[in-house]
Amino acid sequence: MIKDVRSIQKTGTKELGGKLERSRTSGARYVLLRPAGYPLKSVFQDYPEVADPRLFERYAREQWYGELVRPGCYLFDRRLYPDFAFKVVRAHPHVSVVGSDTKIVVERKKTEATKIKSEVSFEDVVGQLEARRKMRIVEKFLSEPERFGKWSPRNILFYGPSGTGKTMMAKALTGETKVPMIPIKATTLIGEFVGEGSRQIHGLYKRAEQMAPCIIFIDELDAIALDRRYQDLRGDVSEVVNALLTEMDGIHSRKGVCTIAATNKIEFLDDSIRSRFEEEIRFGLPNAEERLMILEKNVATLPVEVGPLNLVALSRITEGFSGRDLVEKVLKVALHGAIIDEVRMEQRHLEEAMAKAKKETRDPPAEMFS
Ligand SMILES: Nc1ncnc2c1ncn2[C@@H]1O[C@H](COP(=O)(O)OP(=O)(O)OP(=O)(O)O)[C@@H](O)[C@H]1O
Ligand SMILES: [Mg+2]
Repeated sequence: MIKDVRSIQKTGTKELGGKLERSRTSGARYVLLRPAGYPLKSVFQDYPEVADPRLFERYAREQWYGELVRPGCYLFDRRLYPDFAFKVVRAHPHVSVVGSDTKIVVERKKTEATKIKSEVSFEDVVGQLEARRKMRIVEKFLSEPERFGKWSPRNILFYGPSGTGKTMMAKALTGETKVPMIPIKATTLIGEFVGEGSRQIHGLYKRAEQMAPCIIFIDELDAIALDRRYQDLRGDVSEVVNALLTEMDGIHSRKGVCTIAATNKIEFLDDSIRSRFEEEIRFGLPNAEERLMILEKNVATLPVEVGPLNLVALSRITEGFSGRDLVEKVLKVALHGAIIDEVRMEQRHLEEAMAKAKKETRDPPAEMFS
C-alpha cells in the first residue's frame, strides 16, 4: 500500500534538513489542506471538488505518507493531477508527519468561481433567443446525458460582434445547470514548445470526461482556429487545430462533454473546424427594446441612488451599441461621474457619458435626447 517511501522521505525531510529531523517529529493527527493551484500556468486551473472525502483521505495518506507538514507548506499531488499544490492550512501537531491514521481534510471551496456561476442566469441575458433555445437542449443533455446517446449536442459555436453576450450565455449555462465549465482562452493553448498545445488539448478533454457532465468553453477560438492560410504563419498552431479536430470528431467520444466555442471573427475560421460544429449560433446587436431592457436591468443594480432617467430615449439613440457598450461605456462612465460628484446619478451623467461614447464609436448615434 505504501509505495515509494524512499522518495517520499527525501522530499519530506528537505525542509527541516534530513531524516533525523523527521524521525523526531510526531505523527500528524489532523491536516487541513487548501487547493492552491499549479506552480506553472496551465489550462487546468482548478482541482475538481472532492467527491468522496474518505476515499480522498486514503488516496492522500498513501501518496503523502511520511511527508512533513506544518501550516504554510505545500504538498503536491503526484498522480491524478500531477504537480497540483495543496497548501497546508492547519496541522496538528503543528509540525508533524503524515501517517496512516492522519485525518486529511480538503477545505470546502467557497470560491468566487462558484459565486460567479450562480450570479448569471438565463434571465439576465437579454434577447439572443436562438442561443437560449439551444441552451435548453444542452441543459437537458447535461441533466441526463444517457438519454441522448450518439445524438447528444457536442460542438456548438457562438459567433457575433463583441460584447453581445456570448461569454455571458456560457456562464449562465453553468450557473443554471451547476455543471462544471472549463473556460479556456484559445490563446493559452498555444504552447511554448512543439507538441505542448496538442497535449494540453487532449489532457483537457480527458479531464473534462472525468468531470462529466461538463462543458468546455473555448473563448476567442479564432486565435487558434484560423484559416489554414494564416496557420502557416503561426508555428505549431496547426498542430493544436488537429488535436482539437480529433477531440471534436469524437474518435474517442468523450461522454457527457459538450464543447462551446466563441468567436467574433467567424469569417477567419478554418473550414475544417467550422464544419465540426453542429450548430453555429449568431449573437446579434440588441435592438431598441433589448437595449432598454439591458439598461433597466443594469440600472437596477447601480450602487448609488438614481434620479429620474430617460432610459427609453437613451435606448433609441444607441443603435449599434452592444450590451457591453451600454454597460461599460455608458452606464459605468455615468456612474463614475456621479460618484465623483458625490450626488445621485442623474440624466446629465448619462448625457456626459454618451458624449464620450459617441466619440469612440464607429457609428455615432443621432443627436442626443433631441
Ligand atoms: N444580451 C445581453 N444581455 C444582457 N447583458 C449583456 C448582453 N450582451 C452583453 N451584455 C453585457 O455586456 C457584458 C459583456 O458581454 P460578453 O462578455 O458576454 O460579450 P461577448 O459576446 O462574449 O464579447 P466578446 O466577443 O468580446 O468576447 C456582459 O457582462 C453584460 O453586462
Ligand atoms: Mg466573450
